[in-house]
Amino acid sequence: VTVSDSGRAKALIAASYERSASDFAQFADTLVYRHLAAPLAARLEGTAGTILDVASGTGALARLLERPVASDISHGQLVHNPVELRVVADAEGLPFRARTFAAAVCAFGINHFPDARAAVSEMARVGSVVGLTTWVRPEAPYAPKEIVLDLVARHAGRSRTDAGDLVDELTKATGSVVAIETLLEGAGLSAEVREIAVEVPWPGSAQFVDYRMSTTGVTSMLDDHDAVRREAIAAVDALPHAELAWSPRLVVGIGSPIA
Ligand SMILES: C[S@@+](CC[C@H](N)C(=O)[O-])C[C@H]1O[C@@H](n2cnc3c(N)ncnc32)[C@H](O)[C@@H]1O
Repeated sequence: VTVSDSGRAKALIAASYERSASDFAQFADTLVYRHLAAPLAARLEGTAGTILDVASGTGALARLLERPVASDISHGQLVHNPVELRVVADAEGLPFRARTFAAAVCAFGINHFPDARAAVSEMARVGSVVGLTTWVRPEAPYAPKEIVLDLVARHAGRSRTDAGDLVDELTKATGSVVAIETLLEGAGLSAEVREIAVEVPWPGSAQFVDYRMSTTGVTSMLDDHDAVRREAIAAVDALPHAELAWSPRLVVGIGSPIA
């Protein structure tokens, strides 16, 4: 499946998030995404009115917003999302009338849509302001991540699923200030986009390994999951302290109606 086969790519990505929903809630959201979502939430402070959170997942961003409505293509993800109003919806075709929301926002969702232009124009249709954040690509090498992925690859034969490869490709395509500016301007908005670094506090070796192993999507292929986990924890524990610091670079963009 390639990104150009948009329907199948979307279904494969949605199915993988459906499967990983409880791991995502337990590890990725709590340990990582709540820190990554904070800069976009800060840019939205003071927005008067309801905010639609697109690809809201388990709600790392939504929990930081004042009046959110959550939407996501995966029902399983939304089950873990604490927002009261939750709607299963594909970002590329939002089931809302024009100008329903004060803003439509999306944290780490834009790197999952085969047609990101369609998703942003939908967001601009239903919300006055559009807010987006995603990873900057390429990323700096990070030793704890490489240790875990190498070990998983050695034991499972691979460290990524097909859905993971698609998401990597879409993350590259959207992972720059220029890419996000182009999407917002393409939807007829005036764009203010910045690159920033966010510090993700070190969660401890066991927690980090659990987070990283769960996001590979291939751990069910491991016969010796517990042994690989223990080996990964020991290897991460042996790293010098300085190599644990993680400050990923993110793009944060706001699109506003042209005055
Ligand atoms: C990294 S998670 C997002 C994290 C989330 N925004 C948060 O703040 O916790 C990516 C999400 O995108 C969702 N997703 C993938 N494709 C989608 C689509 N076409 N439309 C809507 N959501 C989609 C997945 O189900 C998953 O929940």
